[in-house]
Amino acid sequence: MVTVTYHGHACFHLDDGAHSILFDPFIIGNPRSSARVEGFGKLSAILVTHGHADHLGDAVELSKRYKAPIIAPFELATFCERRGAIVHPMHIGGSFGFEFGRVKLTIAHHGSAVVGKGTEYTGNPCGFLVNLGNLLFYHAGDTGLFYDMKLIGEMNAIDVAFLPIGDNFTMGPEDAAKAVEFLHPRYVVPMHFATFDILEQDPSRFVAAVEPHHSTLAVMEVGEARVFE
Ligand code: NI
Ligand code: MN
Repeated sequence: MVTVTYHGHACFHLDDGAHSILFDPFIIGNPRSSARVEGFGKLSAILVTHGHADHLGDAVELSKRYKAPIIAPFELATFCERRGAIVHPMHIGGSFGFEFGRVKLTIAHHGSAVVGKGTEYTGNPCGFLVNLGNLLFYHAGDTGLFYDMKLIGEMNAIDVAFLPIGDNFTMGPEDAAKAVEFLHPRYVVPMHFATFDILEQDPSRFVAAVEPHHSTLAVMEVGEARVFE
């Protein structure tokens, strides 16, 4: 049993009662979220898919505040470590058994850089397979549709998949529905839409596209908490 709280965009908080983890903590500056960096109680880890500001977000500050490691691809983890974060670097295809559960990094077709006054590239972006509380979660990160999702689906009995549907920077609803066909998760939670005007998206297009694939769609409101078991 895991309580999932959606903080908007690609940010999800997962809590199995013993441990809690946070994905892509875009907290400050997220126009749709009212979450606060000091509001998480305790964190076992912070998982970051890539270096873009809407995903790396407040990860470094959260790592320092909660003494929690940032789990990220090596180059991004190193970027965070240089800024004082605790890190656990990994890379695509690798898995590691953390106290809260096993984490494996998957490919994602996207970019990864911290774009500021100068652009610092932070390697390849990733997705995450995470075991927590007897459930298997797949957070796709920012990605286009890719056929290896079929392999990910064949090799893993995914309980809950977080998939981007916002289009423009990632899969849109139709491609994300194809991803559901490949991954066949028990539940699918759309993300990375409606945060900014360009990502304005009607999730009902996704609902209609997903229906034939026997996955249960769980569209979460920003701030909503839902128990999966
Ligand atoms: Ni991105
Ligand atoms: Mn993004």
